[in-house]
Amino acid sequence: MDIAETIDQARQTTAAARRAGRTVGLVPTMGALHEGHLSLIRRCRSECDLTAVSLFVNPTQFAPGEDFDRYPRSFAADRDACAALGVDLLFAPSAGQMYPGDLLTWVHVNRITDHLCGATRPGFFDGVCTVVAKLFHIIQPDRAYFGEKDAQQLAVVTRMVADLDFPVEIRACPIVRDADGLALSSRNRYLDLAQRRSAVCLSRALEQARRLVAAGQTEATALIETIRTAIAREPQARIDYISIVEKEFFQPVTVIEAPCLIALAVYFGTARLIDNITVDPSNQRP
Ligand code: PAJ
Repeated sequence: MDIAETIDQARQTTAAARRAGRTVGLVPTMGALHEGHLSLIRRCRSECDLTAVSLFVNPTQFAPGEDFDRYPRSFAADRDACAALGVDLLFAPSAGQMYPGDLLTWVHVNRITDHLCGATRPGFFDGVCTVVAKLFHIIQPDRAYFGEKDAQQLAVVTRMVADLDFPVEIRACPIVRDADGLALSSRNRYLDLAQRRSAVCLSRALEQARRLVAAGQTEATALIETIRTAIAREPQARIDYISIVEKEFFQPVTVIEAPCLIALAVYFGTARLIDNITVDPSNQRP
């Protein structure tokens, strides 16, 4: 496995592969790799000749006061996990390499970023889009792999690629969960034992909402209230948002008439966890 710390090194490896007619896949990550990330890497390996993984805790997507400084960093374990999966290129640049001076140019996607994490983490998606655009220019992948765990990020990046004509296919990968249902996340490492036990309420509440939709409940406020009540039972949980949005522009709906996303963000102590589920009213039981 090649490990590139500079943009030039990474470009050399991927340019050589492209010249040899090999397809290039990219899995962008912030490290602290878990099975969710590994599922993206495996999929990339199965579809592309060269698999590149980027590992960069991107400072521009963290607001002041967020967890940039204490975000889990585990380079040696991440490197070993990538090598074991047969990753060809691990691109692990420094912040100085990615942002050598003041950044005057940003990529901003409108509308899809109005709600959910776009509303409660202002500037977050500008940081994500800007770094993903840079990674796409550096690696020039044919395909890039993103998890449905970050559904709004996936929609925003997909739109950026379409609007700005990036020659990249975005591949969506399903959410990987722990046995009890908690969506895997690097931030789960912040949870103590009690918080970890309570955090299962997120996926349970989403599942409960899915069953209600299947039983004919399509009123968003009623569904949100059910989820809110279930989560509020956990003393450690502090709700950031619970929202039901349509899947193109991520705008809130009042009635679920087509497949929609129920998305939430909830704090357990200082850990902010997100999860989501797609509900489809046409899957109703008779
Ligand atoms: P990070 O949180 O490290 O996630 C990297 C990729 O792994 C994202 O596409 C995310 O959706 C996916 N992922 C995380 N947990 C997952 C799970 N449980 N199941 C499936 N996929 C999962 O998302 C980022 O990094 C950054 O914003 C990044 C895109 C790298 C830009 O900095």
